[in-house]
Amino acid sequence: MTTSEQAEQLKRRAAEAAVGYVRHGQIVGLGTGSTAKYVVLTLGEKVRAGLAIKGVPTSTETAELAKRQGIALLNHDEAWQIDVAIDGADQVDPQLNLIKGGGGALLREKIVAAAARQFIVVVDASKRVPALGGDFPLPIEVAVFGWRSTERQIQTVSDTFGYGGKVVIREKGGQPFKTEAGNYILDLHVPRIDDPAGFETKLNEIPGVVETGLFVGRTDILIVGTQQGVEVRQAEKG
Ligand code: A5P
Repeated sequence: MTTSEQAEQLKRRAAEAAVGYVRHGQIVGLGTGSTAKYVVLTLGEKVRAGLAIKGVPTSTETAELAKRQGIALLNHDEAWQIDVAIDGADQVDPQLNLIKGGGGALLREKIVAAAARQFIVVVDASKRVPALGGDFPLPIEVAVFGWRSTERQIQTVSDTFGYGGKVVIREKGGQPFKTEAGNYILDLHVPRIDDPAGFETKLNEIPGVVETGLFVGRTDILIVGTQQGVEVRQAEKG
């Protein structure tokens, strides 16, 4: 088996274990990305076998996949009471804080996670890090209007926290990448984020910042696909 086939296997393992938490009749937040895709595929199999659920997708890509799988979806403008949301992550630290948004869906992902009674994160073992940052930049969704000024303020906040680093506008095909909400993403490359909670708060105080990819204190259950099987960790919440 190639390394990438192995990675896919670990993602699938984590996703299948997470679907075990979904009960008949529930409303399920459906994440975005290559790991969340396995959640949708596994749920699709169960739906075709008789499981009744309704999904709230975090991207058009996920919505289309879910529809093809026969999963009923709720509209964007309903006041959902999501029972469980299941999503991937780009990095997970030992406190189960996350960086998300590698795929650009962080805004909807955070709205759905915040609306869910239970938020389950599914990753392969490569996503575990001792501290957020470093190899993976922090995605920050910003309004197009005044984005260069917002970029400067993000850099100032980062410098104030002693993280320094560099802000880079995300591009696609030589143009700034636009999110489904029509915003830009600024990727902040910093060696290490020691205070994710404080940093998230300060970044969100900048008017042009729509949302950050820091998910702090939101994970209820982490499921990691490893070579040996799955590891499940419950968050310690006060
Ligand atoms: C999408 O915007 C992201 O938050 C994804 O959930 C995250 O990038 C994880 O994706 P993979 O499962 O593809 O690594």
